[in-house]
Amino acid sequence: MSLSIVILAAGKGRRMHSRLPKVLHQLADKPLLEHVINAASGLPHNAIYLVYGHGGEQLRACFPRAELAWAELVWVEQAEPLGTGHAVAQVIDRLPVTDDVLILYGDIPLISHRTLAHLVAAVAETGIALLVARLADASGYGRIVRDAAGEVVGIIEEPDASAEQRRITEVNTGMMVVKAKWLRRWLAALDNANAQAEYYLTDVVAAAVAEKILITTVMAEDEQEIKGVNDRAQLAELERHYQLRQAQTLMRQGVSLRDPARFDCRGSLTTGSDVMIDINAVFSGEVILGSHVTIEPGCQISHSTIGDHVTIKANTLIEDAVIGDHCTVGPFARIRPQTVLAEHVRVGNFVEIKKSTIQRNTRINHLSYVGDSEVGEAVNIGAGTITCNYDGLNKHKTVIGKHVFIGSNAALIAPLVIGDHATVAAGTTVTEDVKPNSLALNRLERKVVEDWRRPEGREQGESENN
Ligand code: UD1
Ligand code: CA
Repeated sequence: MSLSIVILAAGKGRRMHSRLPKVLHQLADKPLLEHVINAASGLPHNAIYLVYGHGGEQLRACFPRAELAWAELVWVEQAEPLGTGHAVAQVIDRLPVTDDVLILYGDIPLISHRTLAHLVAAVAETGIALLVARLADASGYGRIVRDAAGEVVGIIEEPDASAEQRRITEVNTGMMVVKAKWLRRWLAALDNANAQAEYYLTDVVAAAVAEKILITTVMAEDEQEIKGVNDRAQLAELERHYQLRQAQTLMRQGVSLRDPARFDCRGSLTTGSDVMIDINAVFSGEVILGSHVTIEPGCQISHSTIGDHVTIKANTLIEDAVIGDHCTVGPFARIRPQTVLAEHVRVGNFVEIKKSTIQRNTRINHLSYVGDSEVGEAVNIGAGTITCNYDGLNKHKTVIGKHVFIGSNAALIAPLVIGDHATVAAGTTVTEDVKPNSLALNRLERKVVEDWRRPEGREQGESENN
């Protein structure tokens, strides 16, 4: 039996109070809908149909994105949100009648591939399988109604439920698999005679029971995976759950996290052995950490590769960079895109490096800006040194040879080449290339005025309120 997948995403999502369609709100830097597509697309399937409504243009602009090329989406518009049954009815005629249909919601992001695989396998038993859950607080959900023998006889929506039915804790998650040919027949017979005047997909269960078809149920393993996002508080709660789950996986793999509740990975994190991550680190995009790496508190690392025996000190930002083995970076350093640090490089506090290659054993320890530069090995760049790479129109390159010493507070006006073993004296503004083995300095001669008195009129120590 082959599978068609239908994802419902036409609801208005009013409680988000946003112009963005709900399914485009992000969890771990990915739209909710992308999480659902990821979980579903691992199942063998014919096609994924996306029922959209409000914000269709914005949705189409996001999907399929380049990285989602594997998930060819078939777009189906539901012009008015008249209910989940009405939503599925918009697409049912396009599905092969011999298929099973898996129905998912675009706003239930943490559903796992594993649970979906169980659900799809279970449909073989009776031709209709529901994913259900048991919740301590079932409010807001449709309840599963069973007869004395324990067979499912229907789903009752909360607004239509009696006080007694509301005490049922077994809920409908909304996700189900049904034979397409049955679904087609049952959807055609739906009406909206209920408290919300909607066409309820859940009424297909009663239709099946009326035809003496048994309903198979699959219990969700983890209650978070069936939770929907209706407002921003629920979104934050699911984000935390997702992060905790990742943190636990990493710890099981041998990564030390000082506090798994203060860890965020919004992409993928690959680690070697003996990695220690302190609190409030945020990783995004693809990040690779080598072995014996320490990440101190408050670091933000995205799209970067970090070698072995590296310490990233507190409050450091690293984006789109490569950090070699045995480097130390930070605290309070900012490593910007296209920066490559070779081995044993030390970058200290309040140093910004952009689009530069720094060779081994070089030190840039305090308060410097190095941009558009190539810096050789064993160079010392003194405190406060600035590569003046921008003339207001263009960016220019600075090339510094090996074993160069740049004294503190130098201004290196690019384009510029400083030869091997050269020295630039502290405070020098370098406007022309410096030859290898030479010293560049442009200090003004010191002028001394003997017996100099400052203008008088104020008592010594009196404050100057200007
Ligand atoms: C639905 C179920 C309820 C279940 C709950 C689980 C029905 C009638 N009820 O209720 O049994 O416990 O989900 O979360 O199915 N949508 C459309 N078009 C529409 C209406 C909804 O595409 O016209 C989409 C929404 O975007 C959303 C999903 O369907 O992704 C569910 O809609 P929602 O309004 O949240 O359903 P509930 O009332 O929560
Ligand atoms: Ca809902």
